[in-house]
Amino acid sequence: MEKIEHMEKKYRIVTYGCQMNVHESEKLAGILRARGYKDEAASEEEADIIVFNTCCIRENAENHAYGNIGALKKLKKARPDLLVAVGGCMTQQAGAAEKLRKKFPFVDIVFGTHNLEEFGALLDRKRGRKKAVVEIPDKEGAVREEDISFRTSYPNAWVNIMYGCNNFCSYCIVPYVRGRERSRAADAVVAEVNGLLDRGYKEITLLGQNVNSYGSDRGEVSFPQLLRRICAREEKFRLRFMTSNPKDFGEELVRAIADHRQLCRLVHLPVQAGSDRILRLMNRKYTAKEYLQKVEMLRRILPDCRLSTDIMVGFPTETEEDFRATLDLVRAADFSTAFTFVYSRRSGTAAAQMEGQIPEEVQKERIMRLVELVNAQTREQSLAYRGKTVEILCEDRDEKKGLYLGRDEFGRMGYFASERDCIGEFVQMRVTDSSGISLMGEVAAKE
Ligand code: SAH
Ligand code: SF4
Ligand code: F3S
Repeated sequence: MEKIEHMEKKYRIVTYGCQMNVHESEKLAGILRARGYKDEAASEEEADIIVFNTCCIRENAENHAYGNIGALKKLKKARPDLLVAVGGCMTQQAGAAEKLRKKFPFVDIVFGTHNLEEFGALLDRKRGRKKAVVEIPDKEGAVREEDISFRTSYPNAWVNIMYGCNNFCSYCIVPYVRGRERSRAADAVVAEVNGLLDRGYKEITLLGQNVNSYGSDRGEVSFPQLLRRICAREEKFRLRFMTSNPKDFGEELVRAIADHRQLCRLVHLPVQAGSDRILRLMNRKYTAKEYLQKVEMLRRILPDCRLSTDIMVGFPTETEEDFRATLDLVRAADFSTAFTFVYSRRSGTAAAQMEGQIPEEVQKERIMRLVELVNAQTREQSLAYRGKTVEILCEDRDEKKGLYLGRDEFGRMGYFASERDCIGEFVQMRVTDSSGISLMGEVAAKE
C-alpha cells in the first residue's frame, strides 16, 4: 500500500536562469524519478515536492526566486508534508543559504551547484527527519559522466561538455558559484551524443560557459576536435554550442563549422560592450577592433553565417561616449539577435567594488536606445525572409494557435499548419509572413 502511494507522488521543478540550469533541472527530474516520484505536477497544489533551481546572474533573477519561494508559505502551512527544496547558483553564493533559511524557515532542503547531482542523497537524508537538510559544499564535486537526466525537450537535447568558468569577467558571479573549469572526457561526450541521436534526437546543444577552452584542463581533445568527432556521424542532425568567449574564438573552430553541415551557421559570440576602456574594466581580454576582426574572419570563411550576441549597458563608469561605442559596434557587427542586459551589481565580484556605479535612470535610458537599435536590425533581417523557403525542425504544437512550430538553423521560430504530427521532423517551410519576430509559413515539402 505504502509503495503504491509513493509511486503516485508528483514533483514540480521551477527553473530560473540559463540553458545550463534548464538542463540541470532535467537532471533533478531524473533523480526524483529514480527515487519513485512519478509525474510532473500540473500545479504547486498538486505537488508532493517543489524544487527551485535558482540563478543569481542578475538581481532580478534572485528577486524572482525569493518571491516565488515566499509565496509557498501558506501552502506549506496547510500541507506540512509538502517538501520544499532550493538549490542552484543563488544558494551557492557565500552566505546565501543562511539568508534563505532565515527568511523562509519552512524550506526543507538547501543545496548548491556543486552537489546538484547528489540531490538524491539529500532527499534520503531528509526522510523521516524534521530538521532541514542544508548542504552547500565549497568545493566542486567530481565530474559525472553518466547521463542521469529525464529529458522532456525532444527533439532537442542539451549535453554538458564542461562545468565552471576561469575567466572572472569583473561583473560576473558565475565563476564564484560554478567553480573552476572542468571538462568532461571526450569519449563520454561523444557516447552521450551518439546515444541521443540513436534515440531519435535531432538537435544537440553542447553546453559550457566558455566552450572554446574545452579540454584545456585535460590536454587531450580540443573543442574543434570534439566537434569533428561528433560530426563524423553522417546522418542529418543539428549541432549547436554555447557559449563561446570571443577571446578564445579562432579560425580552427570556424573551419570545423565550415567542414560539417550539421553545425548550425549561427554563432553566439557575446561582445558585452563596444568601448575598449569598458571592455578592459570588464576583464574581457579583447578590444572592439579585435572582436570585429574575428567577425570578419568568420564571415570570410563562412559567408552564410549569422551572429548573435549578449550586450550589457550601465557598467560602472560607462559614459555616453562609451555607450555610443557599443551602438557603433552593434551597427558594424550586424547581429541577427542580441540579448541585452542592464548591468546588475553582484556582491563579491570586482565590479561591485568599483567607483562610478551608474544611476538607474541612465541605465534605463541606455537600454531603451540599445533595444530600439537591436529591434530595428532584427526587423530588417525578418524582411529578408519574405518569400524564402526555410528548413524548420518541428519541435512542438501550439494548441491555442492550432499550429506546429520549430526553429530554423539560425534560431528563428516558424509556425505552420500540418495535417499530421511532424514533431521531430525537418520541414521545408515557405515563409508567407515575416513581419513579426517569428515567421509564419506553409509546408513546402517534408523530408
Ligand atoms: N559564459 C557566458 C555568459 C554567461 S552569463 C559568456 O561569457 O558569454 C550570460 C550573460 O549575462 C552574459 O553574457 C552577460 O551579458 C550577462 N551578465 C552576466 N553578468 C551580469 C551582470 N552582473 N549584470 C548584467 N548582466 C550580466
Ligand atoms: Fe561570466 Fe565571463 Fe565566465 Fe562568461 S566567461 S561565465 S561572463 S566570467
Ligand atoms: Fe546560469 Fe544563472 Fe547560474 S545564468 S550559470 S543559472 S547564475
